[in-house]
Amino acid sequence: MRHLLDVCDLSVEELYKLIYTAEDIAAHGDKYAHALSGKKLATLFFEPSTRTRLSFEAAMLELGGSVLGFSEASSSSAAKGECVSDTVRVVSNYADIIAMRHPIEGAALAAAEKSGVPIINAGDGGHCHPTQTLADLLTIHRELGRLDNLKIGLCGDLLYGRTVHSLINAMLRYKGISYVLISPEELKLPAYTKRALTEAGADYIETTSLEDSVASLDVLYMTRVQRERFPSVEAYKRVKDCYVLTCDIMQRAKATMRVLHPLPRVNEIAKDVDDDPRAAYFRQTLNGKLMRMALLLTLTSDEYLSAPATLPTGERTDKVCHNSKCITNNENGFVRKSTVSADGVEKCLYCEHALQ
Ligand code: NCD
Repeated sequence: MRHLLDVCDLSVEELYKLIYTAEDIAAHGDKYAHALSGKKLATLFFEPSTRTRLSFEAAMLELGGSVLGFSEASSSSAAKGECVSDTVRVVSNYADIIAMRHPIEGAALAAAEKSGVPIINAGDGGHCHPTQTLADLLTIHRELGRLDNLKIGLCGDLLYGRTVHSLINAMLRYKGISYVLISPEELKLPAYTKRALTEAGADYIETTSLEDSVASLDVLYMTRVQRERFPSVEAYKRVKDCYVLTCDIMQRAKATMRVLHPLPRVNEIAKDVDDDPRAAYFRQTLNGKLMRMALLLTLTSDEYLSAPATLPTGERTDKVCHNSKCITNNENGFVRKSTVSADGVEKCLYCEHALQ
């Protein structure tokens, strides 16, 4: 069977197929109303969510399937100390597919290694969030008609914003993409995502100024500063209001530019920008549901259920991952594995941080 842990688990061709299926669902929803009847989706959310969980549940219901699950760790056996791999092993007996969100990086891979059914990573800590990227790709495709030859500005919390990491990984596979990385010093991309840009020979610049960058962009991807992932409240307060997109700033942007945001918004986009036709973030939430429908159909199809698993494999290692938020440092007795990146750096298989 196939899982979706990282957006690159799907080839570019498969992503286009999902986009065309999502478009077909948007146009002929009735055709799909019973497509997954009798199938069950479990949503295991160990971390808060509105859009991701509800859009997964709406997606399954609109396909004629049913849903079960929990929306906070405190109402699951995690509160009693159960590890994530035991939880999914159990839930595999109750559901045909699992969408899981967890605050620990690499938790989705740890779950997939033990699961009897496909796992969809609905966010693993600050690491990645592939199904948000599916929503982003459909939005860019619908709004601008292409996924290549784009200048994309990513603004805000590039360090902890998992949606940014997944979007960059996805866009690296399309031609003619350049990146403007807009953040304060403290919130620049993590080393592993920077490494991915460098290895791919991507065209990117880093800047602190949104005002000076906006005029040349085709897409502006705004993000929230991820308060819950900061080491201290003081560190968060120093950067919390670093960017606010206003109508004044929008005046400098191209007429065809589109603003995306994974949401929730805190105050990084002024409310009156919502009325600008270039603000695509609420349309993006509908696109998220359509892509999740296309994904559920795909991963539960006979073809994908009988396909070889695409889990990354690594070597066992005695080296310790120094990321305190990595699954290898959070589940007792977890087997540590590592892999080597294209530029020869030994990295943790689960969270991608370099091992020392
Ligand atoms: C994002 C997430 O959870 O990473 N939200 C979402 O899934 N749409 C972004 C965020 O929380 O800031």
